[in-house]
Amino acid sequence: MGVGVLCAVQGAAESAIVQAVEGSGGRLSVTRRCADLTELLAAAEAGLGGLAVVSADLERLDREAVDVLHRCGVRVVGLGDPTRPWLAERLAAHGADLVVDVPADADAVVREALGVLAGDAPARPAATPEPVPVSRPGATVAVWGPTGAPGRTFIAVNLAAELAALGLDVLLVDADTYGGVVAQVLGVLDESPGLAAAARAAGQGALDLPTLARLAPVVLPRLRLLSGVARADRWPELPGSSLEEVLRVARGLADVTVVDTGFAIEQDEVLSYDTRAPVRNAATLTALEQSDLVLVVGAADPVGVQRLVRALGEASEKGLAVTRRVVVNRLRHTVAGPRPAESVGAALARYAGEHDVALVPDDRAAADAALLEGRALREVAPGSPARRSLAALAAEVAASVGAEARTTVA
Ligand SMILES: Nc1ncnc2c1ncn2[C@@H]1O[C@H](COP(=O)(O)OP(=O)(O)O)[C@@H](O)[C@H]1O
Ligand SMILES: [Mg+2]
Repeated sequence: MGVGVLCAVQGAAESAIVQAVEGSGGRLSVTRRCADLTELLAAAEAGLGGLAVVSADLERLDREAVDVLHRCGVRVVGLGDPTRPWLAERLAAHGADLVVDVPADADAVVREALGVLAGDAPARPAATPEPVPVSRPGATVAVWGPTGAPGRTFIAVNLAAELAALGLDVLLVDADTYGGVVAQVLGVLDESPGLAAAARAAGQGALDLPTLARLAPVVLPRLRLLSGVARADRWPELPGSSLEEVLRVARGLADVTVVDTGFAIEQDEVLSYDTRAPVRNAATLTALEQSDLVLVVGAADPVGVQRLVRALGEASEKGLAVTRRVVVNRLRHTVAGPRPAESVGAALARYAGEHDVALVPDDRAAADAALLEGRALREVAPGSPARRSLAALAAEVAASVGAEARTTVA
C-alpha cells in the first residue's frame, strides 16, 4: 500500500481525484474521504495519511489548519478554482505545499502530488510564517470619518489590499469599537478577535513581534489581519494605552499598518476626571494620535459632505488628523449633480478649506461583488472604477508615508 491520501474535495472533482489516486499504480491510496475539515484533521491526527488533497474553498481551512496537517506529517495539496483565483492565492499564503487548478485532468493533479511527496515540488510559497521584522519602522495610516457609514471599512480594507499588492507588508487593524466587521468583509471566519488578544498581551507587557504575528493571520499574500471586536459591548477590551502599544509593535511587523476606526472622537467630560475609567472612543482617538497619516472618509451626498465638514472641524479643534488626506466616497451624479467631482470639491474647499480631495466613485456592482465573496475589490473586480481609484490612492499613500516595497515581491 502506498502513501495514504486524505481526500477532502468538494463537488464533482471528488470522485475524479479518488479515481486518479487509485490509478496511481499503488503509490497512493485513498485512506479517508472526509466530508469537512474536522474529519480531515481527525484523520490526520490519527495518522491515517501522508497527503491531504483539499478544495481551496473548504470551510475553515486556514493557516492554523494547514499547520496542524503539517505537524501530523501530512503534505497539503490544494485544488483551486479558476473562476475564483483568490482562493488558491489564500491557500498558498496559508502554507499549502502545492496548489493546482481544479482538475481538468485529475491524473495530472496526482502526478504533481507524487512530485510533492518525492520532494521535487516547487518550494513552499514564502508566506512569511516567521515574522521578519521590517528593516525600518513601518508607517501607520488611520482611516476615519464621520457617522453615517461613509465607507471607512470599505476604504480601509481595499487600501490595505492594494498596498499589499504593491509589495508592501501590510497589517490591517480593525479598531472600530462600535462593531468591527473587517474579518467578515474579508471572508475570514473569526472566533476570537486578534486585536483584543493583542491589547490584553500589551496590557500585560507581553506583546512582542512573534505574538503579534501569531494573532494576526495572513489573509492575502503580504496582508495580515488583526480582527476586531464584533460585539459592540466588548469595547472596554480595547483601552487606549494598550492599543498604543499594539500600534508601536506593529511598526516592526509591517511596512504599513492600516487602522479602520470608529467615527466618534468625543471625550466624555465626566470620565476624563477619572483617568482609569475606560473610554469607548479611546481606540479611535489613539489610532488618530498614533498615525502618520489619517484618511478622512466622507460620503459624497449632501448630508455626507456636511458631516465630513463638521468632522474635519472637530478633528482640527482637538489637534487630531493634522496630516490628513480627505477621501470623498461613493461619488455619483444622482446626488451631487451633473459634475459631481466639481461640486463636491467646491463645497469642501469653501466650507472646510480642503482644496485637494481624493474621489472614489460609487460602484455598487463592484462593492456588492466584493461583499458577497468576502474578498477585496482587486480580487473580484480588478477593472472596476472603484478599484482603480483605490489602487491610485494606495500608490499615493505609500509615497506619502515613505513606504517602499522590498525587492522580493511575491
Ligand atoms: N464606493 C462605493 N461604492 C459602492 N458601495 C460602497 C462604496 N463604498 C462603500 N460602499 C458600501 O457601503 C456600505 C457601508 O460601507 P462601510 O465601509 O461598511 O462603512 P463604514 O465603515 O464607514 O461604516 C457597505 O455596504 C459598502 O459595501
Ligand atoms: Mg466600518
